[in-house]
Amino acid sequence: MFFASDNWAGAHPAINERLLRESTRFAAAYGTSELDRAIEQRFNEIFEREVAVFFVATGTAANSLSLASIARPGGVVFCHSEAHVIEDECGAPDFFSGMRMVPVEGALGKMEIASLEGRIARYPQDAVHHGRAAAITMTQATEVGSVYTLEEIEAVSATARTHGLPLHMDGARFANALAALGTTPAEMTWKRGVDILSFGGTKNGCWCAEAIVFFDPAMAKELPFIRKRTAQLFSKSRFIAAQFEAYLKDGLWLELAAHANAMADRLRAGISTSNSARLAWPTQSNEVFAIVPKTAAKAAEEKGARFYDWLEPRDMAELVGEDEMLIRLVSSFATTAEDVDAFLKVIA
Ligand SMILES: Cc1ncc(COP(=O)(O)O)c(C=O)c1O
Repeated sequence: MFFASDNWAGAHPAINERLLRESTRFAAAYGTSELDRAIEQRFNEIFEREVAVFFVATGTAANSLSLASIARPGGVVFCHSEAHVIEDECGAPDFFSGMRMVPVEGALGKMEIASLEGRIARYPQDAVHHGRAAAITMTQATEVGSVYTLEEIEAVSATARTHGLPLHMDGARFANALAALGTTPAEMTWKRGVDILSFGGTKNGCWCAEAIVFFDPAMAKELPFIRKRTAQLFSKSRFIAAQFEAYLKDGLWLELAAHANAMADRLRAGISTSNSARLAWPTQSNEVFAIVPKTAAKAAEEKGARFYDWLEPRDMAELVGEDEMLIRLVSSFATTAEDVDAFLKVIA
């Protein structure tokens, strides 16, 4: 009953097997091997256009270096107030890009356009004292389990275009969002105006595989130097490529995400009909937030369930009673229906 996070799960057997095979051969280092090149090509196929791809170790690195590649002196980056880049990366995006993250409000973890416009208006291009608007970053799926619709992505990118700002997407859970929307990688990104993507693999079955994807390769020309200077150029980069090969082969990544989402659906269904617990807000991806009696949470923990207590978001409409708590449950490729049912039973 491991629902603490999707990165508590191990790695999928197909990825382990591919890593094992890779470990017995020699290949050119620092991203120059045939395998690295082949996987870069694979990204072109997945996104239906020529892209520039850079492998890095963590989601934090992917976000930070993406933003560093579009940094401007005095630059301000707009993100949701609960975004990982502003809340959970210890200032790494600010550190590596030299820019500031500025919070934008919006229900269910999604930036509201009026709030985004209001924030942008406070940082005009000639405001030397305040700093200037430089980029927008959005998270898909969001940190609170919701998913921007294609129309909502387009609305954010239209705002970005109006103000001449590049748009970055934090896709640590890109596959879960894609599976939830039932759309294509191209539709959810560049066709809707996204310029740069942090493409996550780790949470969805890889051991350690993240990539920065530039939809206009011309925008990526500084990235090789930024990546090396920030110590993210792996000499054995091909081990990330090997993971992505297995991950992207025959749609495995989409299967794993669909499974994780289905397990979250099972949790959602069970909690919404439960006598003791209730859903805190609607979610569509592999994260579920529930309000449960403290006694039930404790009993579940004693029986081996693992999950995080969660801080109530500012805009939360549901009230958490004194004897209750808000918890986050995350499913993964490795979650089983038996796990979910056992959890639902112990909190009942
Ligand atoms: C939305 C989001 N972005 C980025 C990250 C960063 O990933 P990492 O912990 O690999 O740096 C996470 C990890 O929890 C995340 O949830």
